[in-house]
Amino acid sequence: MPYNQTRQFAAQLMIDLPALASNYKLCQTRVGPHCEVAAAVKADAYGIGISEAAPVLAGAGCKSFFVATLEEGIELRALFGSAAHKIYILNGLQKDAEDIIDFHSLTPVINSLHELELWAAYAKRTRPYLKCALHIDTGMARLGLTPDELEHLQNRIGEFADILDIEIVMSHFACADEKGHPFNEIQAQKFQNAADSFVFSKFSLANSSGLFRKDDWHYDMVRPGMCLYGLNPTPETDNPMKPVVKLAVPILQRRPLPEGKSVGYGADWVAASDTELATIQLGYADGFARLAGNKAKLYWQGHPCPVVGRVSMDLSVISLENVPRDLLPHPGDMIEVFGPHQSVDDLACDMGTIGYELLTMLGKRYNRRYER
Ligand SMILES: Cc1ncc(COP(=O)(O)O)c(C=O)c1O
Repeated sequence: MPYNQTRQFAAQLMIDLPALASNYKLCQTRVGPHCEVAAAVKADAYGIGISEAAPVLAGAGCKSFFVATLEEGIELRALFGSAAHKIYILNGLQKDAEDIIDFHSLTPVINSLHELELWAAYAKRTRPYLKCALHIDTGMARLGLTPDELEHLQNRIGEFADILDIEIVMSHFACADEKGHPFNEIQAQKFQNAADSFVFSKFSLANSSGLFRKDDWHYDMVRPGMCLYGLNPTPETDNPMKPVVKLAVPILQRRPLPEGKSVGYGADWVAASDTELATIQLGYADGFARLAGNKAKLYWQGHPCPVVGRVSMDLSVISLENVPRDLLPHPGDMIEVFGPHQSVDDLACDMGTIGYELLTMLGKRYNRRYER
């Protein structure tokens, strides 16, 4: 049987591209016409596939894309084929990468004074007014100019003004997903104070959650990622976004398990009464982390089926205890992992993780289908 005919036996990952476009447009509506909506497409567009996602986002009006690494930037530039779209490298400028960044028309997000000096030196050697974004650390303590570096730069700003075009000054929220978290206002205030020194730049502060929280945080550009892919940017309310990802996996076997018998490695789940189990084609090699063992649930025709025992590399076992006897599924039937009864966020919450992690771990063995 040719390979493409075997795909029906694989787990089915469906990605709704019109929903992705619609989520982008909702962000644009939310921020209004004077604020640009860029897209965070790092990590293969949060696992959904950058080669499919980026053109759809571009078609929906997106002109600026944020990736994490140089390799991701080069891949995206090749995909676009021209320099019409801006591609920013969030992880910054690594030493000796100046030529290659420039060659591929990528824009570095400058994360330290040292990186700024490297980029300025390169501009002096090649051509003036090279573009960059400048990341100010307002509280993540991860990347970006420290408060000391910022003060230093404020005293030397004229030195760089003639040689670099700092297009965007940006920062990143640590707690925007938590409504009313006091750290958000502290960061916003620090960002506003920093912004006052950069008269020729545009400003960008908000990620997905930030853009849905407060108009003052929109500035000239917002940089959503997760909400484009259907995750909930305001977890305390209903999700305003459309779901983008559905995943269903086949049952391989069904078996009865008598009371007192165990399931899986470590034998750490023991049936409290006689029960019916199904073994499904989904394991940690598919991105279904071991965190799901004895915690998560999947769905059969709307009935929750708890994952029992530990998740193994290629398989998991679910209990069919909640499914009426006349509706029990059979080998070949597809169990819902994400879909109408369970969002990516719901499953992540049961597993003790976040939707970002589930999406970026999506495995390579699925039959990926892009709905257009
Ligand atoms: C600097 C920066 N901007 C924007 C984003 C997008 O964030 P979110 O996916 O929460 O919208 C990220 C993601 O981590 C980021 O690191």
